Amino acid sequence: MKSKKWALEYPQLGTGPLAVEPCLSREYFEQEREQIFRRTWLNVGREEQILNVGDCFVKDLLEAGSILLVRGKDAVIRGFHNLCSHRGSRLVRGSACSARRFVCGFHGWTYDLEGKLIYVPDEDQFFDLKKSEHGLKPVAADIWQGFIFINLSPDPAETLSEFIGELSTLRYPFAAMQLVAGYRAEVNANWKVCMNIAQEGYHIPFVHKRSIPDSHSSKENPFSHFLSVKLHSRHHSASWYANPEHRPRPAEALAFKYGAAVTQRANTEDDLPQGLSLERGSNWAFDEHVVFPNLIMLIGVGWYLTHRFWPLALDRTQWETDFYMAKARNAGELVSQEFSKVLTRDLLREDFSAVENVQAGLASGVLARMQLSDQEILLRHFYKVVGDFVGSCNKRR
Ligand code: FES
Ligand SMILES: [Fe+2]
Repeated sequence: MKSKKWALEYPQLGTGPLAVEPCLSREYFEQEREQIFRRTWLNVGREEQILNVGDCFVKDLLEAGSILLVRGKDAVIRGFHNLCSHRGSRLVRGSACSARRFVCGFHGWTYDLEGKLIYVPDEDQFFDLKKSEHGLKPVAADIWQGFIFINLSPDPAETLSEFIGELSTLRYPFAAMQLVAGYRAEVNANWKVCMNIAQEGYHIPFVHKRSIPDSHSSKENPFSHFLSVKLHSRHHSASWYANPEHRPRPAEALAFKYGAAVTQRANTEDDLPQGLSLERGSNWAFDEHVVFPNLIMLIGVGWYLTHRFWPLALDRTQWETDFYMAKARNAGELVSQEFSKVLTRDLLREDFSAVENVQAGLASGVLARMQLSDQEILLRHFYKVVGDFVGSCNKRR
């Protein structure tokens, strides 16, 4: 566990310190919004959230206001700007709905589930109004493995499957799992600072010393070194280590006894989820996939979770975490789920506090560069990809 092997595998990333400017500069932040968040595919939810015709949910984004995702009569999921074509009122006011049509609360303009304007009250009083030209404004939407992605560009430069690229070999029965807990927090830190904490295990023995003191570290691997790392062109993946000598605490032992738990280790080959794309050694805890720019997916034994990070301001981020497991079949499995839910919440709170601490420190302006170890190579890759997007726009100007 001593050698600095990731840098050897990916020498093109270099080993030098990285500037902290991208986490502090307002100009850089504006460029990220323009060049990344307005142009790349962004995951906004799962297909199961809108299983039936007319089911919809709303996602508010700094870059584009409110976006409406709806399943049409033809079962296709479409995205629209959530605003009425008459005078711009927000159309769906809650966060989710089940509708047969959308009626604007202001003057009653009515749209069908495919976004077509079908009824205008007192239509005769308008001048040359062609209803066919005033449907809801579409937003590109597509699905990968049940994950709903949108693209705010009116003309996306690539399809979702091109964008997913090397991760398209990932197979996992996401749809067989159920949302068991969702967490939302507004965190006072740059979106990249928030993501970074989930891209390394170096902090585990420190930030999480009370909640998971020995789950991912041991004498053999005291600083949670990754089992494997795979960098793709924009996305990246890693396998996390589980301590074979981890001693479960009483509540955790109960969770292990009755079902799956977030701290579970794969004991045998049979425990490993099938179809994952990484090579793993023994003592596997979970795989991590970072789908650029702002989705992180963890897949473990009997569970998976997603983190999504939405920039609200240079130093403020909406952090969304959803935790999924198979549907509990009995009280024992519910006990296991409850343990994982509460532990996940505790880990998140520890991470929130750590990243706010980092942002406050960086804001002092004293530190110009961060030093990254070989175990922080995912961060190095991430900043490189972000820089490529932002830099390419600088070149164009
Ligand atoms: S703004 Fe929607 S009907 Fe007037
Ligand atoms: Fe953490």
